[in-house]
Amino acid sequence: MNVADRLAGVEMSLIRQINALATPLSVNLGIGEPNVVPDARLREMAERAATTSWHYSANAGALSLRKKIGAKTSFDPKSEICVTAGTQEALFSIFTAFVNPGDEVLVPNPGFVSYATLARICGARAVTYNLEPPEWQIEVDALRTKITSKTKLIIVNSPSNPLGTVVSPDTLAAIAALGPLVVSDEIYREIWYELEPASMLELGENVIVVNGLSKSHAMTGLRLGWIFARAPLMQPIITAHQYIATCASVFSQALAEAILEDAEWNASWLRGVRAQFAAQREAALYAITHELEAEIAPPAGAFYAFAPVPSCDTVSFAKTLATDAAVLVIPGIAFGSRGEGFIRISYAAAVDQITSGIERVGGWLRASGM
Ligand SMILES: Cc1ncc(COP(=O)(O)O)c(C=O)c1O
Repeated sequence: MNVADRLAGVEMSLIRQINALATPLSVNLGIGEPNVVPDARLREMAERAATTSWHYSANAGALSLRKKIGAKTSFDPKSEICVTAGTQEALFSIFTAFVNPGDEVLVPNPGFVSYATLARICGARAVTYNLEPPEWQIEVDALRTKITSKTKLIIVNSPSNPLGTVVSPDTLAAIAALGPLVVSDEIYREIWYELEPASMLELGENVIVVNGLSKSHAMTGLRLGWIFARAPLMQPIITAHQYIATCASVFSQALAEAILEDAEWNASWLRGVRAQFAAQREAALYAITHELEAEIAPPAGAFYAFAPVPSCDTVSFAKTLATDAAVLVIPGIAFGSRGEGFIRISYAAAVDQITSGIERVGGWLRASGM
């Protein structure tokens, strides 16, 4: 059987490959899923959501939900907001709507694996813009030099997977002013520590923002995301979304609506999520300093620490750690060439797991004389 050309060279991501090595005894610091447990109120909302309509919603999602998603913005819920089956489907719809063979898509390096893969599926070329340690910040002048007549999209991800960095409001504004369409992936925006991350919403007609409930509400399996885009951009996105997903799950939409309706509960839930991740971040940073003897800037958002490891092939290193030390971490190169020499440690895990997982990495490094 000949697989379609668009999938040539597209393989299961390294993240999935490493996670496939998990055993019941593994400490899993490889996963990008919040370890937050739904409280009684959230479960009650889910039970109620299950009793609502099971029929299709509008392609763009229930209007009542779109109104709640857009409540504090200038976006018209009728024509400028679309509910999607998670942020991943949001990205796929956007790429399908705009990216042609031969186009270029600017993606961060290191950055979330999907961006370059989606470009490739559309026959386009992912052109990386490099982020440099230790700050890993976007240099707008360097980014500008990467723009050509073929540039279709610039992808921005703040807070970042895998870096945990946050992009400053000035930099976001400067990126919006560069000209090409910008897709701002803000799926981690509710997970922050000292300062609330800025959004690219309202920064220009050329800016598309994606977000959702996967990370903030530990709803990764419920597939609930959304897109903000001005009406002329949204039209083709909804056409693509219609043929990809028809509509997001109406159960998840009803649950999202209940969550956004109960502003007081939601604010307190988000505070709780941030407090939990703050404690886990402390445990991770302590263990990274003491076990890996590495100093990294505290992540400003999301739940990832990108830690340097002694020079080695990080893919075999991570695979060996998974099989011999029963700890899963993701090799930095899974996120692009600039990630070589680093591992991504997800601290979306219980404190004792974080501590013992990083201890195992440190122990293995010492035992192998690295
Ligand atoms: C940066 C980033 N964007 C998008 C996604 C996809 O999220 P969703 O579950 O909303 O599809 C992820 C998931 O890990 C992510 O890390």
